[in-house]
Amino acid sequence: MNNLVTVDLGDRSYEIRLTAQTRFEEFLAAFRTDLRRTWAGRSCRKVMVVTDRMVEPLARVFADALASADFETRLIAVEPGEGSKSREGLNCLHDALIDFRADRHTTVLAVGGGVVGDLAGFAAATYARGLPLFMIPTSLLAQVDSAVGGKVAINHPKAKNILGAFHQPIGVWIDLSHLRSLPPRQLRCGLAEVVKHGVILDPDLFEFVERHVADLLALDPHALTRVVADSCRLKAGVVTRDEREETGLRAILNFGHTVGHAVEAVAGYGGDLPHGEAVAIGMVAEAELARRLGWVGPDLPARVAALCVALGLPIRAPGLSLDLVRTAMTLDKKNQAGRVRFVLPRRLGLVEVTDEVSDDLLNSVLEEVVRP
Ligand SMILES: NC(=O)c1ccc[n+]([C@@H]2O[C@H](COP(=O)([O-])OP(=O)(O)OC[C@H]3O[C@@H](n4cnc5c(N)ncnc54)[C@H](O)[C@@H]3O)[C@@H](O)[C@H]2O)c1
Ligand SMILES: [Zn+2]
Repeated sequence: MNNLVTVDLGDRSYEIRLTAQTRFEEFLAAFRTDLRRTWAGRSCRKVMVVTDRMVEPLARVFADALASADFETRLIAVEPGEGSKSREGLNCLHDALIDFRADRHTTVLAVGGGVVGDLAGFAAATYARGLPLFMIPTSLLAQVDSAVGGKVAINHPKAKNILGAFHQPIGVWIDLSHLRSLPPRQLRCGLAEVVKHGVILDPDLFEFVERHVADLLALDPHALTRVVADSCRLKAGVVTRDEREETGLRAILNFGHTVGHAVEAVAGYGGDLPHGEAVAIGMVAEAELARRLGWVGPDLPARVAALCVALGLPIRAPGLSLDLVRTAMTLDKKNQAGRVRFVLPRRLGLVEVTDEVSDDLLNSVLEEVVRP
């Protein structure tokens, strides 16, 4: 039986379906149901499947299932990695859509991690003023985070995710068995975002992860179902109330990301520090900022750090240049009027946006992060 999360966005609402193992009749039925909800989808006969080479075997099975259900399908596999989320990568997809004679009734099916979802999603958003997008996120990070919420983007050589759009999918299909082939390091990165959801919104989820570290790392389906479904539900709840990052609520999802993005940028995207690891470092640093502001006691940062360590995530980035991290932070597009804004915990499950962090305080915490 599939676990359902509804992302309630009026006429752009959609279902996230979660299964331990795909049954293709169920997938096709869900796909058709979701297509029927949109004008362009109702007459869809063509599906462009976008994936990367690592995930291609998983994607091919879905493409075959669609072909056997009389959809004309084409599959395009980009190179794995952040490098594909580029203007060149986007051109490639636009070219493939033209070759396929795609029109507004062609659905884009993104099968892969966050890179594929963001890239295929942006191609879908920009081609013919918007094609229906269906997502099958295959990395844990994509399942708990990037496939929920409708943000799609590619990178500019000078700025990550700067060329983007809001383009909600018509449906999301999550198959937990896909995680079996995911490299363990990527699994741990996805768990960092789960920890984030716990800290910002849900102490029970945080405690569940604390108690089930070994089960989660061993891909126990019950433990995974709980954390993936809860994460989707929590993120969907935020997105529903602030779809376009206008009321400020969606900003709470940036906990751990102010420091995280900066250390990730300085380490080099696609380099030594994948996003989830950078977020773990960021969450520990930002929890420490909250402690030094007197917002939380020592227990909270200690628990966040201990959980990250138990999950095999780094909590420091020794050797990074403090100056570069500071510069990266002030360039972050989320700042207003030159002040670094943070999302900091008030207690487990509650965070608040603040620009009260002084330069001295920030420097002293960052010094600990980068100390060799
Ligand atoms: N749109 C959003 O709201 C949002 C949110 C968070 C992150 N993101 C973006 O997501 C991207 C990171 O996503 P990611 O961590 O999934 O990276 P990714 O897509 O690069 O996937 C990580 C690696 O795992 C491989 N992989 C994925 N699924 C696999 C599977 N089932 N089996 C084997 N290998 C598999 C991929 O080929 C890749 O090599 C970043 O570009 C980030 O900006 C977007
Ligand atoms: Zn993130």
